[in-house]
Amino acid sequence: MSLTLRYGDRAVTPLAGETVLNALLRAGIDVPFSCKAGACHTCLSLCIEGNVPEKAQRGLAAHLLEKRYFLPCKCKAVSDMSIAPALESDLVDPALFDEPVAAATCAAASAELPYPEPDPELWAELEDGKTVRRVLEDFYERVYADPLLSPFFGRVTKDRVTDKQYSFMKQCVTGEKVYFGDRPRNAHHWMIISEALFEHRQALMLQALQAQKLSPGQISRWVRIEEHFRPDMVKTEVWPRRVGEEEIFIEGFASETLMDATVCDHCGAEIAAGTTVAYHRRLGQVSCRVCASGMPHTASA
Ligand code: FES
Repeated sequence: MSLTLRYGDRAVTPLAGETVLNALLRAGIDVPFSCKAGACHTCLSLCIEGNVPEKAQRGLAAHLLEKRYFLPCKCKAVSDMSIAPALESDLVDPALFDEPVAAATCAAASAELPYPEPDPELWAELEDGKTVRRVLEDFYERVYADPLLSPFFGRVTKDRVTDKQYSFMKQCVTGEKVYFGDRPRNAHHWMIISEALFEHRQALMLQALQAQKLSPGQISRWVRIEEHFRPDMVKTEVWPRRVGEEEIFIEGFASETLMDATVCDHCGAEIAAGTTVAYHRRLGQVSCRVCASGMPHTASA
């Protein structure tokens, strides 16, 4: 029996095993998201009608549970659901009204941080980078096996991310200009990274540094470099990319008429050249006509 997700005036039938978030995105519905792993709460939504599996509410505050909020990225529908975006007025815990509110960590308007003071002796001590590569290989093994961090790397291979981070660390530690990618602010601009998630990442890095037998002194010099970029990564909302003075938003959907035929990123059906498709700006995924309609595929579709 197929289920129906209602979102405003749209109706979407989730595919077998598909999360509610992916079903809505497949149909071109602009739901905010970041980690897709239940860590950032960016996709938080309201269930107006239907049953919410317990897993989709894990970690939510009591006042949100009471109102039937849930995380679509952790939800596989078990009944028809009627869903709405989160209301800002619901998000503040009424219990906090008497407490002073902490200042938000938001530096969206700030420029990227410059590179930290280099430490070329550290590079030499780490066998001219050989130990750095081993640490990073060990670290990304841990990251790709980690349920909270791995979803952020869904579209990039472990080797590629290790190579990139190696060049970045080489530039930070030696001061030589060898890295040409985005610095942390732009590279992570769409990721909602809480202090707790950053700490979790740092704990995995510490495990890798210790496993690769860096001395406590070397570990603290390595960590100094990573901590330098913490303010460029921890945030409570998606930041635009900054190119010079310009800010570029790459969230949400845009439409484009295809010059060449392609395949649907969700079901693999061919999409003919000349078709106008909606694509997600950040994910770059396109939906065929049937997936975008939110309706199930039939044998003839
Ligand atoms: Fe759902 Fe991060 S996108 S919790």
